[in-house]
Amino acid sequence: MNELDSKIERTLAYHERTKHHYYRYARAPGYMDWDTQPHPFRFYEGTKSLKLPHIKKDESTPYIQLYERHCNLVREFSLEHISVFLELSMGLSAWKSIPDHKWALRINPSSGNLHPTEAHLILPDMKEEPAGVFHYDPFHHALEKRAEHPQIMWAEIERYFETKGFFIALSSIYWREAWKYGERAFRYCHHDVGHALAALNFSANLQGWKVTYLNALSDEELKAILGFNTVTWKNHEEEYPDLLCFVHSREKSKIPLSFPSKIISCFSDIKFQGMPNSLSSDHVDWDVITDVFKATIKPKTEEKKYEMNETSYLCKELPLSAEQIIRQRRSAVAFDGKTVITKSQFLAMLDKTLPRQQCVPFDVGLSDICVHLLLFVHRVEGVEQGLYFLVRDEKDLNQLKEKFHSQHQWEKINEPLPLYLLKKGDFRNTAASVSCGQDIGGDSSFSLGMIARFDEEIKKAPHNYRTLFWETGMIGQVLYLEAEAHGVRGTGIGCFFDDPVHEILGLNDNSYQSLYHFTIGGAVEDIRLMTHPPYHHLEAIS
Ligand SMILES: Cc1cc2nc3c(=O)[nH]c(=O)nc-3n(C[C@H](O)[C@H](O)[C@H](O)COP(=O)(O)O)c2cc1C
Repeated sequence: MNELDSKIERTLAYHERTKHHYYRYARAPGYMDWDTQPHPFRFYEGTKSLKLPHIKKDESTPYIQLYERHCNLVREFSLEHISVFLELSMGLSAWKSIPDHKWALRINPSSGNLHPTEAHLILPDMKEEPAGVFHYDPFHHALEKRAEHPQIMWAEIERYFETKGFFIALSSIYWREAWKYGERAFRYCHHDVGHALAALNFSANLQGWKVTYLNALSDEELKAILGFNTVTWKNHEEEYPDLLCFVHSREKSKIPLSFPSKIISCFSDIKFQGMPNSLSSDHVDWDVITDVFKATIKPKTEEKKYEMNETSYLCKELPLSAEQIIRQRRSAVAFDGKTVITKSQFLAMLDKTLPRQQCVPFDVGLSDICVHLLLFVHRVEGVEQGLYFLVRDEKDLNQLKEKFHSQHQWEKINEPLPLYLLKKGDFRNTAASVSCGQDIGGDSSFSLGMIARFDEEIKKAPHNYRTLFWETGMIGQVLYLEAEAHGVRGTGIGCFFDDPVHEILGLNDNSYQSLYHFTIGGAVEDIRLMTHPPYHHLEAIS
């Protein structure tokens, strides 16, 4: 078997063995080993820490400016504005506590609140600090300086990109999720990357900046840029490179999607500092995660631009400000089983998940659109209960019709939205049951499964496995914010029974697979929890 075929086979095998079934969950510890719980924050010990300023709240930017590109003022790339960008994407959103226990929540959500995603920035010379590579430390809202760059290198970068800007990279620590979720953790880490990527896009847009994914770069190149080859990692606690984005003014549209090797080789001459902190005292070796990681390493590829439709949004005006929505985003832990949303709210939320040219976050340049939504409508006034399907890219429509049950109605319910009724009926129990029996699937106003074009994408390139999860995470982030904007609340659902979802559709091959679920409705607050401001802990240590 050649190398590519082996990688495809291993990726598909990983996916298959990490499915949850009614009769068997994917392999996991089955209990929480609190003694080895990973430290929730990564620090690079021994580095210089650059405290970032906290910002005054801005309640004046309207909600629609999260999405549309033409309205936000273009800010300069100063430390002050980079601080705002980070605080509103990867920063802390609150602390929660019960007697004897306190934990941080972040602007970006994460499966089990385990936060495997780390952010690294490559910044040019600024008045406060010379150019270099920095790790974002959300606990202190600070940048840890891991390396300094010669200014000549930045001159070269600016010549190549023909504009000013900076870079942000995401990486994952698989152990953080594997500690709780075992073999399925690789999937969750990549959902989280997608959520973080969307969060960065929204936050950058509020600064008048655009985030462009450098889709031609290889993981090996990114590793060199981040100096990961030179870090002494504790066994099982390595950060694996996910992606690199260029953050630039929204006014500059043509951006190269790679780095010339001449610039990359400059990075390998740089001395990196800092020792990653230890996260756990002991680990379990989930070797299938190492194997799927190796099978899905991204090689260097052609630069690829993606064209999308230019349509206007259904809903542009809502009372909350853009920043308020970002800050108040939370996951519902339970739903009231009665909140009914209106049809226009429902359609407006779905509409925001459609890709559009020059609109956040799907214009980041990730990939072709592969993910569609299977909707379980429970409580939406003016929309009958039932099973619906949102075809996010109608090029797949005919194939979807062929692959699913022939009895599905495929009745378009609201031109111009590509939303189809498949079957009327009460799916509340079904939705809860396929969500690993979690009531949040059925007690909401609606829930959904994200159905991705699968087999074909993995066979084209196994690293697409990761990109598919990123796309679902980005959709999840949009839904989280939309839920808040419409006065309800959302929750990502990584735990679902894979094949039973496919059976509902009548899907009996791997052409499409459900990769992530989501639910939106009227939340029930857990009144036992106390809430504290996001950075109150810094007052005590400053
Ligand atoms: C990828 C992903 C999968 C998740 N899966 C579930 C789930 O199956 N059940 C659940 O109750 N919450 C789930 N959540 C919600 C997380 O537990 C929640 O994001 C985390 O506790 C942080 O809380 P916050 O979202 O309020 O910041 C998921 C979140 C993400 C991002």
